[in-house]
Amino acid sequence: MLTFDSVTKTFENQVCALDNVSFNIKRGEFVYIMGPSGAGKSTIFRLLTLEERPTSGQIILENQVINTLRRSRVAALRRRLGVVFQDFRLLPNKTVYENVAFAMKVVEASETHIKERVPLLLELVRLLPRKDSYPDQLSGGEQQRVAIARALANDPGILICDEPTRNLDSATAKEIMRLLNLVNERGMTVLMATHDREMVNFMQQRMIIIESGKKVLDQTKGGVSS
Ligand SMILES: Nc1ncnc2c1ncn2[C@@H]1O[C@H](COP(=O)(O)OP(=O)(O)O)[C@@H](O)[C@H]1O
Ligand SMILES: [Mg+2]
Repeated sequence: MLTFDSVTKTFENQVCALDNVSFNIKRGEFVYIMGPSGAGKSTIFRLLTLEERPTSGQIILENQVINTLRRSRVAALRRRLGVVFQDFRLLPNKTVYENVAFAMKVVEASETHIKERVPLLLELVRLLPRKDSYPDQLSGGEQQRVAIARALANDPGILICDEPTRNLDSATAKEIMRLLNLVNERGMTVLMATHDREMVNFMQQRMIIIESGKKVLDQTKGGVSS
């Protein structure tokens, strides 16, 4: 489903954010990218969304080498990725419903499809009763649930979450983790970056540990692999 093959990213200032990192993620997996601040976690995501290109190595998504995609193909690639950020990034002047619907409008989904799907997504994240609220009327946890519904709106191949619980208290963070696990149980491949070991221990899942740009551990649910 997703392969990083000997990926290195060195920035212009000679900072080596990723050093020869390889891993392989299967469809339907839930994988944590663990590591301290500055380890290279967000760089992995920015390489996936083609905000950055690797210095060397290959990134293969659903049997397609993506790191060499032309600029004109980048928008189409991004539509295949659902992205959740630590700071939610909702549109402040749109309601909960409109935030999710807008993501579908952008890809020219039909009105009928939008009217059918948005309530289902809001039900999944348990926010249907709040559909007419604005982001600033919601708690952080609720805003993140809207962001997750939005990320799932166009049925992405993979959901990538960059420290989605970073700005949340521990109880709310656990609620978000349970939701992401539910989304995964329903078949979505989920890749989540975190520096919070407590979160990772709370939900037993595969864990890839990155330190100073190097993969130092790849631990499956049961034990250590590759
Ligand atoms: N655009 C950039 N230019 C130069 N250095 C960068 C850039 N983006 C990230 N870095 C550096 O790369 C390293 C990894 O960053 P990042 O992937 O954001 O880490 P993490 O998400 O694990 O905290 C850090 O040392 C950071 O300062
Ligand atoms: Mg980061």
